[in-house]
Amino acid sequence: MTKNKKITLGIIGCGTIGKFHVRNIIRNFRQVRIKYICDTDIINVRNWAIKERFEDGIAFITDYADILNDGEVNAVIISTQITQHTDILIKAAGALKNVFCEKQIGTDPKQIKTAIDLVERNGLKLQVGFHRRFDVNYIKAKEMISKGAVGKVHIVKAVTRIPQVLPARYLVKGLFAGHLNEVTSHDFDVIRYITGAEAEEVFAFGKVLIEPKFAEIGDYDTIVTSMKFDNDSIGTVDSSMQAKYGFDQRVEVFGSDGCIFVNNMIPTQIFYYSSAGGRVDKLTSEAWSKKQSYSLFYMDRYHDAFVNEFDQFFKAIIEDKEPICRGIDGLKNILICDAAKKSADTNKPVKIDYSICQ
Ligand SMILES: NC(=O)c1ccc[n+]([C@@H]2O[C@H](COP(=O)([O-])OP(=O)(O)OC[C@H]3O[C@@H](n4cnc5c(N)ncnc54)[C@H](O)[C@@H]3O)[C@@H](O)[C@H]2O)c1
Repeated sequence: MTKNKKITLGIIGCGTIGKFHVRNIIRNFRQVRIKYICDTDIINVRNWAIKERFEDGIAFITDYADILNDGEVNAVIISTQITQHTDILIKAAGALKNVFCEKQIGTDPKQIKTAIDLVERNGLKLQVGFHRRFDVNYIKAKEMISKGAVGKVHIVKAVTRIPQVLPARYLVKGLFAGHLNEVTSHDFDVIRYITGAEAEEVFAFGKVLIEPKFAEIGDYDTIVTSMKFDNDSIGTVDSSMQAKYGFDQRVEVFGSDGCIFVNNMIPTQIFYYSSAGGRVDKLTSEAWSKKQSYSLFYMDRYHDAFVNEFDQFFKAIIEDKEPICRGIDGLKNILICDAAKKSADTNKPVKIDYSICQ
């Protein structure tokens, strides 16, 4: 980052991911000043900051209007629940703040389009939190595919099986944005990113196999989405919340000349064989936590990507560059998730209508 320019930041929503972002920014970006942390449960957040020893110089507040009214703040991070994002984004863009918004940037495509247009009109940067775009493995896969390493892409397969069901506080009707938006959106984004192909049509199947609450809120805990893309390839994404063996997240891109696998990473590269058989390290988050001391599976696997995404966000502001994951990427992702949900609910294939993106 350019040394003589500064970012003054406000965080809106400091729960699980907000705290992780704060920690990563404090540890990795000295030239970035966090001036405010806003959360409706601010006592909890302040106690956490005191425990982590970085409360000095930060104002802990409950009303994000204070951030938006402060002319010194030139960037905000929005990390409340998805269903609140677009409202806050529109207000932040209206107050001329550059925005890093956690995925998804909302649930209503029309409102999201309004927000994206406002960001553009006001000459601001908006980056959406699809962190896999900043992971070295996916960056390499993208580069290889674009140089023709697999030839013409025929089949894409993505798997995301998280170790446990999302926390109960998520699964509230009206607040919860749905399994596809919360989890599978990452797969839809990374497929777009590494192959450059747009999904044209989806046919999804959903089941409640793990947590009955999903049925109560009209959703599924287990979903398989078949996809057709505009480069004539086809694919599937499968998504579960009960991988007892750890965070299982893989992508495969198969084409006329070869196949690329982005596989799981394991805490050590030790493969042990004996007369009793063989073993490798488990994929569990406990195994990772011992090594890296992060509390959740995605924080382990993608730690560096989460740091890189902020490096790119800050660079986009300071060097006036396009963010790598833009508002339009967020909007297209919502349209794919909406189509997949509709397909699973109606048991019919659904074409994706991108006309709102014009
Ligand atoms: N990129 C990723 O891999 C990733 C991982 C986890 C979560 N997320 C996304 O991050 C967002 C937050 O997820 P989370 O797990 O941290 O949720 P969380 O419930 O742990 O945190 C949300 C926080 O927002 C606060 N909040 C709610 N309304 C507020 C308001 N009006 N003003 C200020 N604070 C408010 C809550 O008190 C809470 O602390 C979601 O959009 C989720 O999809 C992304």
